[in-house]
Amino acid sequence: MIDKISVYESVEDLCKGFTSFLQQEQTKAGEINISLSGGSTPKVIFDYWANSCQESINWQNIRFFWGDERCVPPQDEMSNYGMTKEHLFSKISTIPQKKIFRIHGENEPMDEALFYSGVLNKLLGKQNGEVSFDILILGLGDDGHTASIFPDQIDLWNADANCIVVHHPDTKMKRISITGKVINNARNVAFLVTGKNKADKVRQIIRQRKQFSDVYPAARVNPESRNLYWFLDKDAASLL
Ligand code: 6PG
Repeated sequence: MIDKISVYESVEDLCKGFTSFLQQEQTKAGEINISLSGGSTPKVIFDYWANSCQESINWQNIRFFWGDERCVPPQDEMSNYGMTKEHLFSKISTIPQKKIFRIHGENEPMDEALFYSGVLNKLLGKQNGEVSFDILILGLGDDGHTASIFPDQIDLWNADANCIVVHHPDTKMKRISITGKVINNARNVAFLVTGKNKADKVRQIIRQRKQFSDVYPAARVNPESRNLYWFLDKDAASLL
């Protein structure tokens, strides 16, 4: 089994656990290329880092990228970059602006997907000839989506490009997302999942991955490195 599962009594303990993981990875490599996700779970991590890790994380040696972004301007409340800026970058002055590589949600989506694919090719190391993040953070949607690959567009997981344009199944809002080949080529993939509403999907994906790999994009996360970490609170892990 490739899943390395850590279950925490509280979300704060999960933040501490993931922070230790990041710090350990920092001791192994000089500069860390990290892909962030959107949603509410990373927001809690960013608040924890802003409040408790000003000095205890080496911010100079992290390059920040995103696994997905909504096609809105950075000041829009839906922007993943905007959320990260509000909860992290605006709170930690030692994070160099030049190490933040956002997806430009305000640009024409197809152009930006192509542009950001190029940014990843240019700035990231390669494994098996494909770009490779050191740490790739993923959330898990209630519907089994991850990054911004949704169940009704699951075939986009196999796209050739590093980044593609997708649309949210309900709102139809366009998004830019990395694809399965980028996700599964990361040195470390870390799902950050909290809440009882995710427990069923967590169980299905961890315990019945093959059965759900054509249903939930998150069930296709299966990194070559075999470093698939789950940082779960007890509610999200309650059906394991
Ligand atoms: C996004 C995210 C998305 C998110 C999941 C889980 O841009 O919305 O990348 O994939 O990670 O929807 O979100 P929560 O952490 O809020 O449950």
